[in-house]
Amino acid sequence: MTPLHLLKRPRRLRRTHALRSLIQETHLSAHDLIAPLFVRDGGGDPEPVSSMPGVFRLSSEQMVEEARELYDLGIPAVALFPVIDPSLKDAIGSHALDPRNILYRAVRELKRALPDLLVITDVALDPYTSHGHDGVLDDSGQMVANDQTVALLARMAIFQADAGSDIVAPSDMMDGRVRAIRQALDAQGMTDTAILSYAAKFASSLYGPFRDAVGSLAAAGGKPLDKRTYQLNPANAREAVHDALLDEDEGADILMVKPAGWYLDVLSELRRSTRLPLAAYQISGEYAQILAAAHMGWLDLEKARAESLLAIKRAGADMILTYFAKDAAKTMA
Ligand code: PBG
Repeated sequence: MTPLHLLKRPRRLRRTHALRSLIQETHLSAHDLIAPLFVRDGGGDPEPVSSMPGVFRLSSEQMVEEARELYDLGIPAVALFPVIDPSLKDAIGSHALDPRNILYRAVRELKRALPDLLVITDVALDPYTSHGHDGVLDDSGQMVANDQTVALLARMAIFQADAGSDIVAPSDMMDGRVRAIRQALDAQGMTDTAILSYAAKFASSLYGPFRDAVGSLAAAGGKPLDKRTYQLNPANAREAVHDALLDEDEGADILMVKPAGWYLDVLSELRRSTRLPLAAYQISGEYAQILAAAHMGWLDLEKARAESLLAIKRAGADMILTYFAKDAAKTMA
């Protein structure tokens, strides 16, 4: 048959592996990945998180070993989350300002063992509060009190930086916290500590497994935690970009979108709206979904994992926090 005369035949460049590689636009490497790690007090075996197969609560010794493996695979940073014993939690999260708490000890050990691995720490009170919210409650007991919480977060950031954290990451969504944290750090001469702000963080249904991992669900008496008075409405992209750009104005060094996979439009819009580096957090529920489907035999784990991460990078992320970091890095040269 006489060929159609087509000026454009996009399939021409998809014919072979070599051609497909030549025109590949987005590449993922271990250097793009940040591994979240859960650290707890005490010894014993790593504790599996039931809703996140393959993820464990680690003692600080186990955490340092895990971090060493990640570093050797080319992963430049870890994000540390403390699991706090319920007996140490109270309504105002006081243990966050105890210099002996497990997070600060873990950061110190990690920086001593692996000085070149970047350590990111979460600035938010939820691991420490008896109600599981990210800040202190106002008199009504219904709302997180913004300005009081901001003052605590700024102090918390100093404790983290003092322990050696390279990047502090406010994940609480209070107004004005980036400015307060920047001012507090600078006043201490900690001008090199960077701020990665969870700038566009949505009130998502996908945080459940994480709250299980750090025990903030148990703190809330197993009730689902409603964070809609501070986290963003999943319906709002414009508001998300607006809020993220405020964090840029307040001095954030890196902006993050979270969750990642269901919010790629926000990521791509933010990519066009700022020149700052962007991070995206592929969160616990995103991880759990892929693993569950793979476990049922309904999805190919490696392919789904790689595609989910590639899509986040394509949409505009320079770096991705993901519980798949180690397994994904192992498949990358
Ligand atoms: C809270 C915080 C959350 C995550 C990181 N920091 C959960 C929340 O807002 O309740 C979630 C990460 C994940 O789901 O993987 N400060």
